[in-house]
Formats: sequence, structure tokens, C-alpha cells
Amino acid sequence: MLKKLHIKTFGCQMNVYDSQRMSDVLAPLGYGATDIAETADMIILNTCHIREKAAEKLYSELGRYKISQDQRRAQGSDILIAVAGCVAQAEGAEIMRRAPHVDIVLGPQTYHRLPEMVAQAMRARDVKSNGTNRRGQGVLDIEFPADPKFDFLPDVSVEGPSAFLSVQEGCDKFCTFCVVPYTRGAEYSRNVVDVVTEARHMVERGVREITLLGQNVNAYRGQRGSRSRDSAGLGELIGELANIDGLDLIRYTTSHPVDMDEKLIQAHRDVGELVPFLHLPVQSGSDKILQCMNRRHSRDDYLRVIEKLVTARPGLKLSSDFIVGFPGESDADFEATLALVRDVRFIQAFSFIYSPRPGTPGALLADRVPNDIQSDRLTALQELLSDHQRAFNQSCVGEIMPVLLDRQGRKPGQLAGKSPYMQAVHVMAPETLLGEIVELRIFEALPNSLSAVLAAPEAARSSMLENGRLSV
Ligand code: SAH
Ligand code: SF4
Ligand code: F3S
Repeated sequence: MLKKLHIKTFGCQMNVYDSQRMSDVLAPLGYGATDIAETADMIILNTCHIREKAAEKLYSELGRYKISQDQRRAQGSDILIAVAGCVAQAEGAEIMRRAPHVDIVLGPQTYHRLPEMVAQAMRARDVKSNGTNRRGQGVLDIEFPADPKFDFLPDVSVEGPSAFLSVQEGCDKFCTFCVVPYTRGAEYSRNVVDVVTEARHMVERGVREITLLGQNVNAYRGQRGSRSRDSAGLGELIGELANIDGLDLIRYTTSHPVDMDEKLIQAHRDVGELVPFLHLPVQSGSDKILQCMNRRHSRDDYLRVIEKLVTARPGLKLSSDFIVGFPGESDADFEATLALVRDVRFIQAFSFIYSPRPGTPGALLADRVPNDIQSDRLTALQELLSDHQRAFNQSCVGEIMPVLLDRQGRKPGQLAGKSPYMQAVHVMAPETLLGEIVELRIFEALPNSLSAVLAAPEAARSSMLENGRLSV
């Protein structure tokens, strides 16, 4: 009989990919996905540790699941509860102590061992139902194993025409605010053959767009094959992937400005499948703050990289991440961030108030910025960023863009997708176009999306790819 698995995912796209892989690993044990936690046989919370409050949210979520678990036990069945991801990595033993009803705690590098952990947890559960206290009997696995998990994962499954593919894991950059190097471990890249094989499988199953993932994806340096001594960077990997017939759109995220090498920039010039859009976090526009953050680049370095990218691919647009209120950030430093934003005109961005993370060097810095100033700065930055986003969306009105229609829209008869620039686009279109890349003419810019009509209903697909290059 099919057992029901409910996975709730927090955090970045890497966690989204990992959740899919955990479900792939559990499929041979008879687990199939359900959206409803309360009736599931197993719940996995795939957690994020990047900013404060994540852990508190986790414990309140776990408290709610305990109620369902108790009810199910009273009826003679059970719910197995697992906590995965970055909070699990950072606070494994603490989770076991504070929430002893959790059966499994596993880090982001050990989920290929989930079947083993489930079996172990089941055995512990039998003991528990005989009245033994559960405390201390959960399964904890937060190692950074020497053998990468990718070598042990089953074939990838996909849902829909758009998929994530992790090519790189971990981070060696140690920005002073960030927990990722501690929760995900050292940088590791999968080899080119394995990535291309996984991408081919995805395309065979209907995928048209792949987003290559890594905490620091452009630090990618993979061996060409498992025994090869030759290695390739992300630009070369993208070149290989572009040769896969039926793979029409390639994206990658998240990149670090110092790893934007010449070959990757050339890929933006040469590879038509690579979208003219890049998420390139800068965090701050002040050289002093960038240095305190250990970002390893100046404001000018960042602007130079952008100049090269836009020269390679005219029309390329950028998005970014910002942190305001890092310790020591003065009004002038913050003004430098606003000035950078005015210079670049990002078309989207994420911005956050600095959150001191235990165990990171930033958490020990004095000269904290008071909360009210942090909030005021966030508001000012977000207003400016929103102005630019709105202006860009407005400038799209009248344009024709290729859009991968990957889901039903909210209204009947409507389909939705995202533009090359990650804008949500809605269009009235026949269902037969679901999963297709179609040319849409944008006629209205709404606050969070674009409305469009089919530009070329007859020749929706063929007219758009000119010599294998998206005509954006
Ligand atoms: N690898 C990416 C970022 C991963 S984390 C990079 O190098 O840019 C995603 C974003 O969360 C970061 O870009 C940063 O803006 C934000 N972030 C990370 N740690 C943070 C912290 N301690 N406080 C506030 N924001 C943080
Ligand atoms: Fe975190 Fe910096 Fe690594 Fe990005 S590059 S994951 S911000 S340490
Ligand atoms: Fe969060 Fe871990 Fe991703 S901390 S942002 S889930 S790498």
C-alpha cells in the first residue's frame, strides 16, 4: 500500500531540489507525495537557517505536528517526523532535545541515507509503542560524508517543464554574515558527465528549462568525467548542456561576483539558451562594508563585471540581494548602496535587515545599527528597488517575449509562466500550450505580474527560435 509523504520546504532553491531528491529516495519504499500533513505517514520539514526566527518557526511547526502525531497514535497508526536541511545541520542535537517526538534529524549532505534512517526510526518506534520513553531514540545524521550523496541517489523525477538541477554544493567564501559554509560544508562540484546525464533524463521527461543550482554556482569546477583529470567551469558546463536537443532555456543561481570568469561571460554571448537575466548578489554598495562582510570585491569590481556581461549580451538585466544595517554601516555607507542601485537599475531584488547568526564572525562585531535605523533603511531601499522594478515591468508593455507556460492561471482558460526576466506572465491560451514556450505580446504591467496575449498563435514555437537562439 502506498504510504503518504508530506515535505514542507523552506529557504532557497537548493532546498527545493533536495526535497525532490528526498522524495525520489523514498519512492522505492512506497512513499508517494501528499499536500496534507495531518494524514501523512511521514512528514519532512526541510529547513533554512539563513536568518533569525527560522528555528523558532520550526519548533512551533513541530508542536502542531505533535498534536496530529498523538491523535494518530491514539488511533493505532503514526506519523514519522523528520527535520532536514540547514537548521537540522546547525542544531541537530538541540532539536532532538527540545522536540523528542521528532524521529529523524538529517543534514543536507546525508539524505541519500534516508531509507536506512527510516528503517532505524521504525525500529525505535516499535519500542516506543511498548511504552518506552522516546527521548534520545531519534535518528541523528548530520555528518559531512566523504562520499558525495549524488553518487547514491536514484534517477531524478520531474514535475512540469521547468526543473532545478544542483551542480555545486557548499561554500568556501565565508562572508562574515552567512551560515551557509557551516550548514552546507565545503565546496563540491559534480562532474560534467553526471550533470549532463541528469539533464538529459529531465529533458526526456518533458523538461524545457533547467536552472543550475549551487550555493555558489559559478564557483563550479567539475571533472569532465568521474575518472577524468580535466575539469570544466560553469561556462563550459553550460556549453555542454546547450547541446541537449529539447533543452531550450538555461538559468543558473546563485552567483558570486568574484567567480564571474571570462568563459562564463562568453557563454552569455554565445549560448542562446542562456536567458538574458542574472541574479548577482552584491549585498552593499559601500567598499568599507563589503570588506567587513569579506565579500572579496569592491563596488567598482562589481560594476566592471556587469559592464562585461552587458557587453557580452546586450539587454541582459540583473537582480540582486542586499543586506542593510550590517554592523558599522553609516548613513554614508547606506547612501553608497542607494547610489549603486541607481547606477545599475536592478529589475528585481531581495533585501534583508542584517540578522546576526550564531557562530559567524559578523555576530561578534560591535557597532550594531539600531533596529529603527535598520527598518528605515530597508524601507528606503525597497522603495527605490520597487520603483525600478515597476519601471522595467512598464517598459515591457508592447514587447514580445518567449514565455514557458508552466501552469494554469488563476482565471479559467488562463495559463501562466515566467518571462526570461522571471516576471510572472498571464495569458488566455488553450491548454494544449501548457509546457510550450510561446511568444507573448505584453499588454499590461500589474504590480506583480504581466498580462499578455499570444503574439503568434499559429507558429507559437517555431518562429521564436532563430538558429537555436531565443530571439529575446
Ligand atoms: N550564495 C549567495 C547567497 C545565499 S544566501 C551569495 O553568495 O550571494 C541568500 C541571501 O540571504 C544573501 O545574498 C544575503 O543577502 C541574505 N543573507 C544571508 N545571510 C544573512 C544574514 N545573516 N542576515 C541577513 N541577510 C542574510
Ligand atoms: Fe554565504 Fe557568502 Fe557563501 Fe553566498 S558566498 S553562500 S553569502 S558565505
Ligand atoms: Fe537557507 Fe540553507 Fe538555502 S540556510 S538559504 S536553505 S543553503
